[in-house]
Amino acid sequence: MKKITLYEVGPRDGFQNIPTYIPLEDKLEIIDGLVNSGVEHIQITSFVSPKAIPQMKDASELAGICKGKYPTLDLFALIPNLRGATGARKSGINRVSYVVSLGEQHNLANIRKTHQMSYDELALIKGEYPDLAVGLDLATAFGCPFEGKKGEREVVEFLKGYVDLGVEYVCLCDTIGVADPLQVRTTVAAVQRQFPKLDLHIHIHDTRNMGMVSTLAAVEMGVTNIQSTLGGLGGCPYAPGASGNLASEDVLAMLASMGYETGVDVRSMVRLARRQAELIPEGLFSGHLFRIPAGE
Ligand code: COA
Ligand code: ZN
Repeated sequence: MKKITLYEVGPRDGFQNIPTYIPLEDKLEIIDGLVNSGVEHIQITSFVSPKAIPQMKDASELAGICKGKYPTLDLFALIPNLRGATGARKSGINRVSYVVSLGEQHNLANIRKTHQMSYDELALIKGEYPDLAVGLDLATAFGCPFEGKKGEREVVEFLKGYVDLGVEYVCLCDTIGVADPLQVRTTVAAVQRQFPKLDLHIHIHDTRNMGMVSTLAAVEMGVTNIQSTLGGLGGCPYAPGASGNLASEDVLAMLASMGYETGVDVRSMVRLARRQAELIPEGLFSGHLFRIPAGE
């Protein structure tokens, strides 16, 4: 059986884009629902400035509760700096996604750092917390809202230093959803060629309805780790035009139909996506709702 691992990033990438605060108990209800559906890898929050992303102001409390409840699951968080690593560590998180944008202009808009500053900051984090597992979320890996399309050579060159620093995986993130399946294939192939042992993840926003085809292109290239969001929530507050992610329930349904094993119950995820739509204030729900055909 072919196996794919789902990394649900809705509680971070989805919720961060909802302008009104979602109560902690509602966030916990969704995370509980994900766990009960069989999801074992969840990006539960981000340790970022509450001025930048007010929605994530409860990161420490939420992470503490979730780690207490589910100590053996892979509950990880996004961080932009050393301060975030310290916050994550204090809350019991032992794996983080360090975010850097391939487009330097987006990096400056999103986390107010040049490429060099972001690199130096990660070196600092690795020095301070050598046993913290750090993955790299490479935002705007296929295109930047300020700089335009990105090519595979730029991706590979950019990653060299980070691979030397010992990142445990790299996630190629199509933050604004401009990739197409051919670009995904070309980029994945170049990264695989350069770093054959690197664990690769894929994360595609669905801006132009390319989420599914571009993700499938990566899967067909051998990528077995998919990041997506329940209900297709998502977007980046610092990327004009960014829309929702590929919906987890959609990609799970496709993979199940194609004979891939994910360990996640699609029907339970569909029900949870509907519940999530009730919890998020009307008009702010950016995703769509998967329909189970009658009789199934
Ligand atoms: N967690 C919580 N607070 C943090 C923080 C973190 N990881 N990093 C910085 N802060 C606080 C600082 O303490 C400071 O607070 P103060 O004004 O009360 O003293 C304030 O944020 C500004 O800190 P500074 O170091 O000057 O950062 P900055 O203004 O240059 O902003 C980031 C840099 C990275 C902190 C900010 O841009 C950020 O959090 N970006 C994340 C954006 C994001 O999550 N985007 C979507 C995900 S891809
Ligand atoms: Zn995203």
